[in-house]
Amino acid sequence: CATAALVVRHRMKSRGKWARALAILKEFEEKCETPIGKLRQVADAMTVEMHAGLASEGGSKLKMLISYVDNLPTGDEKGHFYALDLGGTNFRVIRVHLGGKDKGVTNPDVEEVSIPHHLMVGSSHELFDFIAETLAKFIHSEPEELHPPPGRQRELGFTFSFPVRQTSIASGTLIKWTKGFNIEDAVGEDVVEELNKSLEKVGLDMRVSALVNDTIGTLAGGRYYNQDVVAAVILGTGTNAAYVERAQAIPKWHGLLPKSGEMVINMEWGNFRSLHLPLTEYDQSLDADSLNPGEQIFEKLISGMYLGDIARRVLLRIAEEAEFFGDTVPPKLKIPFILRTPDMSAMHHDTSSDLKVVANKLRDILEISNTSLKMRKIVVGVCDIVATRGARLAAAGIFGILKKIGRDTVRVVEKEKSVVALDGALFEHYIEFRTSLEGALKELLGEDAAKSNVIEQANDGSGIGAAMLAASHSQYL
Ligand code: GLC
Repeated sequence: CATAALVVRHRMKSRGKWARALAILKEFEEKCETPIGKLRQVADAMTVEMHAGLASEGGSKLKMLISYVDNLPTGDEKGHFYALDLGGTNFRVIRVHLGGKDKGVTNPDVEEVSIPHHLMVGSSHELFDFIAETLAKFIHSEPEELHPPPGRQRELGFTFSFPVRQTSIASGTLIKWTKGFNIEDAVGEDVVEELNKSLEKVGLDMRVSALVNDTIGTLAGGRYYNQDVVAAVILGTGTNAAYVERAQAIPKWHGLLPKSGEMVINMEWGNFRSLHLPLTEYDQSLDADSLNPGEQIFEKLISGMYLGDIARRVLLRIAEEAEFFGDTVPPKLKIPFILRTPDMSAMHHDTSSDLKVVANKLRDILEISNTSLKMRKIVVGVCDIVATRGARLAAAGIFGILKKIGRDTVRVVEKEKSVVALDGALFEHYIEFRTSLEGALKELLGEDAAKSNVIEQANDGSGIGAAMLAASHSQYL
């Protein structure tokens, strides 16, 4: 009789546990909802902030930074150029040969190294010395026939993917760090000067011809192949967008009107925020625990650096309140950023009938074993909610840009197209994210306008675009 009572109590407890877990999941799902009406509000708020950011310096959370790029590559660029790409967990050095319209870009040489974490939070000269040393090694392995003739400097496009207030095409000061970088003594400094100091130390005589954000590099690279590209979006460790604006629509620009009449704007949309954003307690705690509380709120809802950690926070709450993974909370689940977005993506895409990938990830990363199928389904549910919200919000941002430049409707001129070049590992590898973004954008545009407004994966990344801009701003032209 006593055993029967125990069994009943156990069953009731277990039922209560499920009910609690499902209730937490449901509440989270409701708070993350992004129906089309909400997405339209987000897009409209984005457009309003774009105007405000263009009107005056500091006029909006959107910095709308002037890139000094008023001419995008035409395809005629020629010669050997270098690019440095710094902005995520990896750092890349690239050498590329531009062969003009007929030959295009041939055989880029790329070297990629991961940036040791201590350099991301250390001092400015340590980071730039590391960059210069990596570049020096790369140059030393340069085949002799590629050596520049005497008296000619090697030229470099520097993709530096953080908010920079440009002072010219080849100089600019760092406004703040994002994405887990935090090197205080670099803030307010000219990043090209910092790089030059380190290049001198290693004895490299090179000239930075273009300093660009990754969005600008992607836009330039995209335009090289397709003249219909009007904007570029990065969905990677961080997220951001750049687009081509009419110079006359930039009241805060007091320089000469460019011949092209256009200026590329780095929006720094990661810092966008609006009351319409579906923020939850998990986002608030992630923000509070981050290196930059109160900043980059849009980025913290969308980008690869954060999605996995939002999912972890939801699972932690379920573990704490519903004893979901047993009587004790698995200690690993309490470690920030232990669940990375690529692992979340792998769980989300698990098509096996018993969700084996989910089981293995939970076991290997979080040391949670013996999960039931029912439990794994809840984990997939959490991933789905987090990724869908991020992807749909990114689509709303893109729609906001298209609205701002009057490209959100059916084109009057037949066959005129607007192409948005997209790049970044999140977009490239997280298929559910990508599909959800594409679906939401179609919904926002409507079927007809969706035919002339397309998103395309940028095939070269931002580095090659930076090399092209170095070419079009070469001192030897
Ligand atoms: C962050 C940076 C931004 C960059 C984006 C994507 O938002 O602030 O400059 O473009 O990440 O890498």
